[in-house]
Amino acid sequence: MSLLWIIAGLLLIQSIFAFNNATKKSIEEIIKNAKPGHMELDPRYGHIFDTSFFQNYDSSRIAGGGWESEPHSRPYQVGLYVPTPTGTSFCGGSLIGPSTVLTAAHCVMNLNDQPIIIYIGAHNMPPLSTENAIQRQSTEVLMHPDWNALTIQNDIALIYLSENVSESDRVKYIPLPTNTTNIYVGREALVSGWGLPGDGHTSGSSVLREVTSKIISSVACRLAYMGAVQRTHICMSGEERRSTCRGDSGGALVIDGQVVGVVSFGTAAGCEVGWPPAFARVTSYVDWIRENM
Ligand SMILES: *[C@@H]1O[C@H](CO)[C@@H](O)[C@H](O)[C@H]1NC(C)=O
Ligand SMILES: *[C@@H]1O[C@H](CO)[C@@H](O)[C@H](O)[C@H]1NC(C)=O
Ligand SMILES: *[C@@H]1O[C@H](CO)[C@@H](O)[C@H](O)[C@H]1NC(C)=O
Repeated sequence: MSLLWIIAGLLLIQSIFAFNNATKKSIEEIIKNAKPGHMELDPRYGHIFDTSFFQNYDSSRIAGGGWESEPHSRPYQVGLYVPTPTGTSFCGGSLIGPSTVLTAAHCVMNLNDQPIIIYIGAHNMPPLSTENAIQRQSTEVLMHPDWNALTIQNDIALIYLSENVSESDRVKYIPLPTNTTNIYVGREALVSGWGLPGDGHTSGSSVLREVTSKIISSVACRLAYMGAVQRTHICMSGEERRSTCRGDSGGALVIDGQVVGVVSFGTAAGCEVGWPPAFARVTSYVDWIRENM
């Protein structure tokens, strides 16, 4: 399978808003105009995998299999508006310390010379009012030095905040994994985000949504993506349409209150076809994160 197909499935929402007068735009204007665009699906995909097989799932429903989060129950979750030369992209991320957000490298790789606008402690996105969330801007972004956009390896990045954020009832730093040899197979994991609530949707969710599913083995996930998945990825089962979708990228995959994955990619065939969503495996990057946070 061509890697391009998978890249088409990167979970980033790309807006169609042109940024030619960017420096003059207010934050409000940027956010108001940040629209999810569309990504091309490869029409040949359906001939290789019989996706109709998966359509029988209709129960649980992030993508089709998710539900709205209890407001402020995921106090590490952040929303990112990323200005790029072709428009504003929306992504997720997680607060890992007073001045650092963990996200996916593909979310920030096209950043232009404007800061990322970051909302922390929000349930609605964009927040209903500025009192509903803490707003910060990025001062600097650090992508993993081995990030490779063609092979989607090492899809992890850090964003540094303009001003420190303290913990409160709505804001908490999420710890990094304490056991870096744990592979978590069979464990129930939770992922949240404001991405598309399903394949029939064109815009992200206005409220935070989440889904839980079991971690599958790297071997099973590698088969699903024909080699793109390495030991530095972690995947969960996409059964019962439980998956991430466009706009969820960069968000945390959580087990035992620790961030064990960063939302990276899914299949171009859709978010509700039962295919396993793939994440950057945080245990592989703990040293790099600690050195740089
Ligand atoms: C840029 O935006 C400002 C304020 O919105 C406007 O006054 C100005 O004319 C714009 N400049 C250009 C080159 O479009
Ligand atoms: C902000 O947080 C960082 C840790 O990320 C800390 O080193 C620094 O001293 C803090 N700055 C202020 C002004 O509190
Ligand atoms: C870390 O995880 C591995 C694999 O699950 C386990 O065998 C080991 O006992 C764990 N170590 C600690 C200190 O919990």
